[in-house]
Amino acid sequence: MKLGIIGAGNVGSTLGRRWAAAGHEVRFGVRDVGDARVVRLLSEIGPKASAGSNAEAAASAEVVVLATPYDDTPEALAAAGDLAGKVLIDCTEPVVMGPDILKRGLLIGHNTSAAEQIAARAPGVKVVKTLNTVGWPVMANPQFGSQKAVMPYCGDDAAAKAAAARLVGDLGFEPLDAGPLANARLLEPFGMLWISLAFNSMGTDFAFSLVKR
Ligand SMILES: NC(=O)c1ccc[n+]([C@@H]2O[C@H](COP(=O)([O-])OP(=O)(O)OC[C@H]3O[C@@H](n4cnc5c(N)ncnc54)[C@H](OP(=O)(O)O)[C@@H]3O)[C@@H](O)[C@H]2O)c1
Repeated sequence: MKLGIIGAGNVGSTLGRRWAAAGHEVRFGVRDVGDARVVRLLSEIGPKASAGSNAEAAASAEVVVLATPYDDTPEALAAAGDLAGKVLIDCTEPVVMGPDILKRGLLIGHNTSAAEQIAARAPGVKVVKTLNTVGWPVMANPQFGSQKAVMPYCGDDAAAKAAAARLVGDLGFEPLDAGPLANARLLEPFGMLWISLAFNSMGTDFAFSLVKR
């Protein structure tokens, strides 16, 4: 698949590395293509990766992945241009990063979610919420012994959800259909639980798995 990843920080770079290794073509949308971290990332990934503006990354992508801080999403989306008709995977967690992250908690919730706010800003875009319920080190390796970490995804468009499930599976997760996009109201607090556990007791090398009969 052709993927446009907006943001090449911890999450964007990790996803880009993994998806390129799985055979996908990755174009990062960045604010500065000359940034030394971007140049290094591209040279480490090799010919499957390139970088451009957000609009360039989105233009040729079948799936656009939003991996910017939630506060930066209005600017990042505006710079991506018209995304109507595209699949947009929203990885954001609506928190303010930093030492007060647990004290401040989620910026929104209960009767809306970051994913729904993003969908409202991007009319005609098929938004799928996923990849917000573990930290980036787990995205780099979701295999725990014989078990895969579970990765819930939710959205309102069946084809978009199928694309997201495939991409999440290609990372090595067990994809879990978590229903409509409004269920991002549940996935974002679930992501906050992972953050709280990580800060308080577990570190970053853990994830949730699914058991069923
Ligand atoms: N960290 C985790 O483990 C984790 C796990 C799950 C979900 N998340 C969520 O994933 C998102 C990214 O987290 P992160 O840890 O990767 O953050 P990060 O390391 O701070 O990276 C954020 C990236 O977004 C870029 N960015 C900001 N505004 C942009 C714009 N307008 N256009 C293009 N790029 C822009 C930044 O680029 P500059 O260098 O130009 O500032 C930076 O490369 C957040 O919403 C976070 O809540 C994070």
